[in-house]
This record gives sequence, C-alpha cells and structure tokens, in this order.
Amino acid sequence: MPAIPPADSVGHQMVNNKANGKPTIPSGGTSYIYLAVAVASVGGMLFGYDTGWVSGAILFIHQQFALTAGEESIVVSGALVGAMLSSVVGGASSDKFGRRHLLLVAAGICVLGPVTTALANNLLVLIIGRFITGIGIGLASFTTPLYISEIAPERDRGRMVSLNQVALTGGIIVAYVVDLAFSASGQWRWMVGLAVVPAILLGAGMAFLPNSPRWLASKGQDEQAKETLQKIRGTHDVEAEYQAIQAGIAEEKGSRWAAVFSAGVRPALIVGLSLAVFQQVTGINTIIYYAPTIMRFAGLSSATAAILATAGVGIVNVVVTIVAIFLIDKVGRRPLLLGGMGAMLLGLVVLCLAFALTGLRSELSGITIASLVIYVAGFAIGLGPIFWLLISEIFPTKIRGKATGLATTVNWGANLLVSVTFLSLIDALGKAAVFGSYGVLTVAAIVFAYFRVPETKGKTLEQIQGLWHAGTDRTDPGLSP
Ligand code: BGC
Repeated sequence: MPAIPPADSVGHQMVNNKANGKPTIPSGGTSYIYLAVAVASVGGMLFGYDTGWVSGAILFIHQQFALTAGEESIVVSGALVGAMLSSVVGGASSDKFGRRHLLLVAAGICVLGPVTTALANNLLVLIIGRFITGIGIGLASFTTPLYISEIAPERDRGRMVSLNQVALTGGIIVAYVVDLAFSASGQWRWMVGLAVVPAILLGAGMAFLPNSPRWLASKGQDEQAKETLQKIRGTHDVEAEYQAIQAGIAEEKGSRWAAVFSAGVRPALIVGLSLAVFQQVTGINTIIYYAPTIMRFAGLSSATAAILATAGVGIVNVVVTIVAIFLIDKVGRRPLLLGGMGAMLLGLVVLCLAFALTGLRSELSGITIASLVIYVAGFAIGLGPIFWLLISEIFPTKIRGKATGLATTVNWGANLLVSVTFLSLIDALGKAAVFGSYGVLTVAAIVFAYFRVPETKGKTLEQIQGLWHAGTDRTDPGLSP
C-alpha cells in the first residue's frame, strides 16, 4: 500500500463550499486517482474495440463460414444480446460484490469471449464466443463509469468519468487500424483475438486498485472506506467527506429491487431509462456501424471513400469527445447535452433533406459527409459521454449498481433494436423517412432533457440525491468550478 502523503504536500485539504456549507474537494487530484481512473477506463477501450473490429472482420468471417445474411446478423448482434442480458444481472452483483470485483470478472470474460471467437471452427462456437464477449462488454460498459464516479472528487467527476467515453471512441479507432493491418492477409482471427490485450490490462490493473469507498461504506466497512478515501485524496483529512457519504447512505431507503422502483427513486429512474433509449434511437450506431453503407447511398461507392468515411467518423468522434471532457465540469452537463442534441438534429435534418430532394444528386456526397460530421460531433459532445456519466451519478449508493445496470440493459436493447432494423427500414420506408424519424426522436430527446435532466456539475453524489426532492430546481447550474 503506498504511503499517504501529508495533506499539505498535495494541497487537497477539504474546503467549505460557500453555497451550502457542505465539504467539497478542490479541483485536481492525486496521481493515485489518475492512475485508478486510467486503469478503469480500459473498460471503455474494451467496449470500443469490440464495437469496432466486427465491421472489418465480418467480411472475412462471412466468406470463411459461408454465412447467410441472417447468420451474419446473429454473429454481429450476438454480442449486443449478451451485453443486454448481463448488464441487469451484473448491476445487482456490483451492489453485492463491489464494482472492483465486477470489473475483474468482466476482464476475465473479455479474455474468454474473444479467444473462443478467434478459435471458432464452426458457426455455433462463433456465436457462443460473440455472446460471451457481449456478457463481458455489458458488465464493463456500466461498471467502469460507476467505479470512476464513486472515487472521483465532485469537481472533476465529469471529466474523469468521461475518460471512459474517450477510451471507448479510441478503442473503435484502434480496432479499425487493426482491421486494416490484417485485412490484406485476411487474418480475421487476429482482429478478434487482440481484444484480449485491453482485457488483460484491465484485469491486471484492477487487481491492484481498491474497492470504491462509497461501496465499502454502504457495506459498513468503515475502516477500509476511510483508508481508501485517504489514499485517493492524498490526505489523512477525509473525515468530513466520509461523514457526508455516511449521512447520504443513512438517508437511503434500501438496497433491494423494490427500492429501485420506489417513489423517491422514480424521477431518477425515468431520466436514466429515457436517456438510455434516446442515446440509441436517435441513430448513433446506424452511423458507427454503417457509415460506409450510408456513403454508398450517397453515391460514393469506392472502397477508399468507404474507409475514409468510417475513419473520418471515428476520428471526429474521439476528437470531439476529448473537447467534451474539458468542458463538462465547466459549462455543465445540460448545456452540452442540449447543444449537442441540437447539432445532431441539424445533421439529421440536412441528411433527410439531401435524400428527399432528388435535385441535390450532384451535391449529395458532400452534403452527406458534412451532415454525418455535424451529427457525430453533436453526439460526442453531449449524449455520448453524458448518458454514461449521468447514470453513474443520479442514483442512490445502495442501489446504484442495480439502477445503472438496468439503464444499461435498456441501452443495449435499444442499440440492438435500431441496428438490426436499420437496413430493413431503409428498404421499407426509404432513407429520408428513416433519418427523418431519428430526427423526430431527437426532438423528443431535447424536450425531455430540457424539462427532466438535472444539472449535476460540481455536486457530490450525495448532494445529487437532494435534487430529487420535490420543489428543487434540478436545472440550477449550481457551483462553478
Ligand atoms: C454508445 C455506443 C456507441 C458509442 C459511439 C456510446 O456512448 O453507448 O452505443 O457505439 O458511444 O461512440
């Protein structure tokens, strides 16, 4: 266990928050917390790598196993089904056994899944491998933000948790590069198999990190909770923060599923589940998974154009997510979420019009690229990182795992629904109608977020619980960092 430096050496003593008299932690952090956040974020990399590799490898898998269209879609979506099923079960387990243990389990499963897939010699094993991988990805997808949220100081929590989304979008790009490197030789087994690298890194790193202090406190393990707080804050002076965590937990109703659906938690649950649906039904994964196909619709059929479109979308996604992490604790979650969804809407409206107005044929490819970029940038600054951040912040500690896991299951379910219906909807309704429908759903998401999503910037997880009390103005931007 590393020695705890005296408070003065790192300058992180507790200070009083003028607005409400509650203790807060000044901005910045110890190198230990940055290390913990970086290690946990590898969970996001796992999620991203698995999202990304399939697009390139499926061409070779298709050939090798002579897959029909239906079989191919089972191979691709097998992971989504696994993720959907594991999240809700994993959520309850993370409340029982702790976030850290769940991340260790996720890392183990994320080794087993890709190895099974990479060694598959028949369709059944291939599908089983994808399903196992999905189980691991589902667990990592919500446990990473949850763990980071529970260890981060409130003033940096937004950017620390959103590092998960940076790792996720980075993982998608890494997978594209790996796909590209192995595509000349057609070695799809390496494309899949390399997913074990982030899984091993996550498992090895988490083995040395502590449980989250909030989870420890919720289990009555007071001494370990305080020790962990001292370690991650770099000071012995954690009593005030610890008391605030304890007081928050003491006010909570219970740790069973009934508490998740209780009247007090319901407003938070509505926000979490609705954002889970909106993040997907506004169409992000039709673009992440099908960017080359969309470019083909716009008349760019060359392989180079397809690769550039895919890479371009991926790069915009990472770069703008990095911009988001610099803004999220300064301007707050609501302005980024609402502004980002405004940009997504603009991208979708332009895309819809471009496909609807046949007179625009010659400009179609340019307009399509521009609208995809605007749309993806809007997602990356708002709904992308902020959905995962909010669901890790808005629920009470004792049921945080269950509720976050439930929202994650809904998110994977909506992802599955949108991605498997996209191509058939295009056939049945036409491109303009499909992108137009995602636009209508984006309007619904904006209205919902405007009225229901709270501003959580600068508040402790315990203070956020106070936002749900009747009569509180949840949209108040609160403290400035
Ligand atoms: C979403 C994924 C999506 C990814 C793209 C995540 O926040 O949950 O479904 O593929 O962002 O960056």
